[in-house]
Amino acid sequence: MTNASPATSSRTAETSAPILEVLAERWSPRSYDTTVDIDEAKLTSVLEAARWSPSASNSQPWRFIVARRGSESFTKIHDNLMGFNQAWAGNAAVLIVALAETVDEDGKTRPWAEYDLGQASAHLSVQAHHEGLHIHQMGGIVVDGLRDAFNLPESLTPITAITLGTLAAPEELANDILREREVAPRERKSLDEILVVND
Ligand SMILES: Cc1cc2nc3c(=O)[nH]c(=O)nc-3n(C[C@H](O)[C@H](O)[C@H](O)COP(=O)(O)O)c2cc1C
Repeated sequence: MTNASPATSSRTAETSAPILEVLAERWSPRSYDTTVDIDEAKLTSVLEAARWSPSASNSQPWRFIVARRGSESFTKIHDNLMGFNQAWAGNAAVLIVALAETVDEDGKTRPWAEYDLGQASAHLSVQAHHEGLHIHQMGGIVVDGLRDAFNLPESLTPITAITLGTLAAPEELANDILREREVAPRERKSLDEILVVND
């Protein structure tokens, strides 16, 4: 069974069972169109999708720094990406830093804060794809650099940075390695490999 549909995207996952089209078609590009600014209504919908994610005790420990290309905040985020991410991420219309609020207002640790933030980011990614946009999450960030740049309190931990924008052709990427990765086959472990028990 496959969801592949040439009309939509050549990057569509070849799934072993039918899944929602938006999930099969979502992927993480590195080539973004530098000529297109973010559509503000779509950006708001993307953030709203994150807001309606479930969380432990409805604690909603996700926080986001949102920066449009050309802004001071965008530069601060870009400066704090690891080198390999800096090579491509600056072309996106928006850079987002996903932050986990790891302690509550009483100073008590929130054990599921990062889990909840990940789930909110997943919501955000699916909404983005639905809006005709793409995102790419990056763990390759300088955490302390982001802390300093945005004067973050101890309670907030930067977990990822996320590009958001309009897809461009792979050929727009600056170097061969990035271009190769952009078109490399999308792979996953089989269902059997990830089911520890399937009784
Ligand atoms: C938490 C997290 C951290 C990631 N860090 C990086 C990164 O620093 N640089 C990068 O190019 N891709 C990064 N990725 C993207 C993954 O490599 C990508 O999602 C994975 O290869 C699957 O590809 P797909 O999203 O196109 O299906 C990250 C993804 C996640 C979820």
